[in-house]
Amino acid sequence: MKHYLQFSDFSADDYAYLFERTAIIKRKFKSYEKYHPLVDRTLAMIFEKASTRTRVSFEAGMGQLGGTVVNLTSTDSQLGRSESIEDTARVISRMTDIVMIRTFGQERLERFAEYSRVPVINGLTNEFHPCQIMADLFTFIEHRGSIAGKVVTWVGDGNNMANTWLQAADLLGFTVHLSTPSGYEVDEKLAFGARQPRAGCYKIFKDPMQACAGADLVTTDVWTSMGYEAENEARRKAFADWCVDEKMMAAAKPDALFMHCLPAHRGEEVTAEVIDGAQSVVWDEAENRMHVQKAVMEYLLLGRISEAA
Ligand code: CP
Ligand code: NVA
Repeated sequence: MKHYLQFSDFSADDYAYLFERTAIIKRKFKSYEKYHPLVDRTLAMIFEKASTRTRVSFEAGMGQLGGTVVNLTSTDSQLGRSESIEDTARVISRMTDIVMIRTFGQERLERFAEYSRVPVINGLTNEFHPCQIMADLFTFIEHRGSIAGKVVTWVGDGNNMANTWLQAADLLGFTVHLSTPSGYEVDEKLAFGARQPRAGCYKIFKDPMQACAGADLVTTDVWTSMGYEAENEARRKAFADWCVDEKMMAAAKPDALFMHCLPAHRGEEVTAEVIDGAQSVVWDEAENRMHVQKAVMEYLLLGRISEAA
């Protein structure tokens, strides 16, 4: 049994398969072709943090695959009344076939997986957001082809998204240019553990403009992630120069794309001109969450499917 707890849980070969599979599954959806490989399967979703995209994409996606969904939050379940994560995992995994969790520390997700009889998917933790990076990569491939050898510029917080980009760059052969305010750098140990990452898979820049030079994709995220709200004021000051604007986009390649996992705050981490402009693919990116996650659920439950593209 496989879990998907962080991006590095799948190999480059798995991703090659999953991106091809996503394209097939997306095509079926777009042509209204019924595809119900997960009839009688149930997905449990546990949200300990808010969500719009993750909730809707998993729920709609599982329904489209013929399965059903149970949604729990910490406030409406016994998790909010201090039932342990281990007991919750034992119980839920006896009644359902696959579980998606959005929570705080990665170790909480790992403990759930350890006690689960069924595959567990990371729907965002403080440390990682692998489903989102899968959607971003798939979106890049749809618009521009292979990401190998390309430059992805990360402007802003060294957060769950940034850590996951590092894992993806290491595995899939591209380079991340990172520019974060001082005090908000990525923790390479989180992304790579004790392992030495592939040489040149990331470069650090003080100046976000320099980080954008030569980028094929510029991407950013909120200044304050969920769970860090107490730092809001300090972050507003520290991040003031890390706003993706038209000047930064002009420093990137002329055909560079802009992505943002959303929700976005126009006028903070990105200007309205950029996120609503011609280089932005944020709506495709959001939609693709559903298509990649359908491929992940199918893969975790049924393995590789051979079907002509
Ligand atoms: N991008 C993302 O995960 O969005 P939600 O927080 O709305 O799920
Ligand atoms: N880094 C953000 C992503 C939201 C989808 C957060 O963790 O809140």
